[in-house]
Amino acid sequence: MSSAAKRLAGKTILITGASSGIGRSTALEFARTSPDNLKLILTARRINRLQDLAAEITKEHPGVKVHPVQLDVSNPEEVRNLLGSLPDEFKEVDVLVNNAGLVKGIAQAPSILESDMQTMLSTNVTGLINMTQAILPSMLARNNGVGAGDIINIGSIAGREPYVGGSIYCATKAAVRSFTESLRKELIATRVRVIAVDPGQVETDFSVVRFYGDKSKADKVYEGCEPLTPDDVAEVIVFAVGRRENVVLADSLVFPNHQASATIMHRR
Ligand SMILES: NC(=O)c1ccc[n+]([C@@H]2O[C@H](COP(=O)([O-])OP(=O)(O)OC[C@H]3O[C@@H](n4cnc5c(N)ncnc54)[C@H](OP(=O)(O)O)[C@@H]3O)[C@@H](O)[C@H]2O)c1
Repeated sequence: MSSAAKRLAGKTILITGASSGIGRSTALEFARTSPDNLKLILTARRINRLQDLAAEITKEHPGVKVHPVQLDVSNPEEVRNLLGSLPDEFKEVDVLVNNAGLVKGIAQAPSILESDMQTMLSTNVTGLINMTQAILPSMLARNNGVGAGDIINIGSIAGREPYVGGSIYCATKAAVRSFTESLRKELIATRVRVIAVDPGQVETDFSVVRFYGDKSKADKVYEGCEPLTPDDVAEVIVFAVGRRENVVLADSLVFPNHQASATIMHRR
């Protein structure tokens, strides 16, 4: 058994946005890395996809217990009620992966749809903060009040480098970055680790969602280049969580080899 597998054994891991892309891959990667004794709480709005994923994981790794939950992170009441609704054996969350997020459109001010703006802000920012506040108290209560646990916030290169046609999405990811850094400083007297993972270009349903379901527009984003796969990002997340408790992989920016910034990409 690898050291990472030993460190992950027995942990309860909650992933938001586990129905697709990076979140889905992260669930599979945790299960692959620690197949004998792991509990996964998989959340997203599309419960059918979560149930299928739960069945896939438990078939491959019978030692992993999976609890799928339908959850819209942009709905504060659903987030508030989540912890209380979990079965007892899933209540002590050790690892929170704040992954749910999305981008809508490429409109520029003054033509940005108010509804798109609201969706991005309430999911990527308020949703992530509400999730953190819902789970953090139980992390802080452990370890004789010193706290224990990991919070992994999925940001983006967009949070470091705003680009044309992404003003609201970039602002949401800059907010995630800022919240993450404040949180790490605020929790310095505790043993809770706060970890930022900022991917560059990853091929998932992300661009399909951006273009309101238009797959041909989404495919153009990746033309002439080889984006990261969601598994690539999942490996970084699981690596960070699998480090020794005293090691905090505080910040990582993950690009595919053809990418050097939000907009500098080498296309063949
Ligand atoms: N792909 C990229 O190039 C890229 C780059 C940098 C950062 N990221 C970030 O990576 C994260 C995952 O995105 P992805 O690329 O894996 O895209 P994806 O395949 O579209 O997955 C997004 C996930 O977020 C969930 N989600 C969206 N709104 C939600 C809500 N209100 N409540 C709960 N879950 C919600 C979706 O599930 P449901 O629809 O079932 O709710 C889905 O599981 C996002 O935070 C994104 O900003 C992506």
